[in-house]
Amino acid sequence: MVKAIRGTRDLLPSETQLWNKVETTARAVFARYGFGEIRTPIFEATELFVRGVGEETDVVSKEMYTWEDRARAASEKAQQLTLRPENTAGVVRAYIEHKLGESGHLQKLFYIGPQFRRERPQRGRYRQFWQIGAEVLGPQSSGAESPVRDAEVLEMLASLLDELGIKGWRLALNSVGSSSDRPRYVAALRAALQPVKASMCEDCQRRAESNPLRVLDCKVPGDQATIDALPRIAEYLDAESTAHFDQVKAALDACGVGYVVEPRLVRGLDYYTRTTFEFTVPDGSGLGTQNALLGGGRYDGLSEMLGGPKAPGIGFAIGEDRLILTLQAQATEAPAHKLDAYIAPLGVERNAAALALARDLRRQGLSIEVGDGSFRLKKSFEAADSVARHIVILGEDEVADAVATVKAFATGAQVKMANAQLAEYLQGV
Ligand code: HAM
Repeated sequence: MVKAIRGTRDLLPSETQLWNKVETTARAVFARYGFGEIRTPIFEATELFVRGVGEETDVVSKEMYTWEDRARAASEKAQQLTLRPENTAGVVRAYIEHKLGESGHLQKLFYIGPQFRRERPQRGRYRQFWQIGAEVLGPQSSGAESPVRDAEVLEMLASLLDELGIKGWRLALNSVGSSSDRPRYVAALRAALQPVKASMCEDCQRRAESNPLRVLDCKVPGDQATIDALPRIAEYLDAESTAHFDQVKAALDACGVGYVVEPRLVRGLDYYTRTTFEFTVPDGSGLGTQNALLGGGRYDGLSEMLGGPKAPGIGFAIGEDRLILTLQAQATEAPAHKLDAYIAPLGVERNAAALALARDLRRQGLSIEVGDGSFRLKKSFEAADSVARHIVILGEDEVADAVATVKAFATGAQVKMANAQLAEYLQGV
């Protein structure tokens, strides 16, 4: 039997209902903050991620699904293509390609879609997973660099999580400095790593040379004490970056959004500058060790890294799979969603009338299931009770008189009424 690929999943109707609810809430919240939807391709030139996300990151060096496209002509070089591992690089590419900055306005874009990373699958970590993300970027004159934007994005996330009913979330915040602070910090890290790197894991030994910041992402237990003793980015921020970070924190304080500053939060992608953040949920929220619900930050140099104009920006991506797992684990009651009614024709001669009544009710916006006249009444009742709030019984007399017998399962109340009043009755109880 052919099965779904390891790390991929089928989402069945029992689950997609919650997914759709989450997406509807996210869309409504994004609309309140002036975001519009963007849909970028699921595969892009590999170079986009190498340049944007960074060659030394785990995502690019180990986790991408990359292949060589077929060359169109013998003279042409085959192109390297990659299934997108994240969507920020694609959104910034689209921003550059469509010259969105030329309007001079701030661009507020959101997306909902699958991403692909060849990670080791476990609960909350998949090879195809979904992100709900957003990006705010624009030319400098649009105010895209302002700490107001950082705080607004974070406040929006806090409101979205509250509105979705996520309990006990925690916001970890840091500043990784601007492109001018970074070289000083990286130089200090490199120097501090020289005497200790020999005792560290292989990845750290390599990264101590090639990209010392990535050493801070290392999860190997034996390296943690060494990493904790390394210089901290906060000591290398210049006055401007410090003031920027202070303003983000002050705005969050004013909004009443709680946060914890975590000096080691550098995040695993190379494009980040200044503000970086992650929202986590407490143990026991269904995520196991994968407790990062979402992550994001500022990327003031990404557009230029991709050959575009200066376009500072900030954004985030929520792991939708993780959000759903958390909601399921934190739910106190099972979501009981049932259809409005189940129509039970008595005898196959009533099937056509049942379908006609269903058509009429569905056109009035009701959700209806239709049984089959060959079922015994007991079987119809059982089938109806499992999917609908009411059973509508259509016997010979009912069809002749254009009436129906309706029973509400919740109360047990049974009434007979004209078909014309049925829709109003079903909606009311
Ligand atoms: P990221 O931290 O790599 O950031 O991913 C964001 C979120 O996606 C994670 O916090 C997690 O919830 C979810 N996620 C990542 N990998 C997996 C996986 N294998 N299975 C399930 N969920 C996963 C980014 O992707 C950035 N593009 C975010 C951003 C937007 N930064 C600025 N703008």
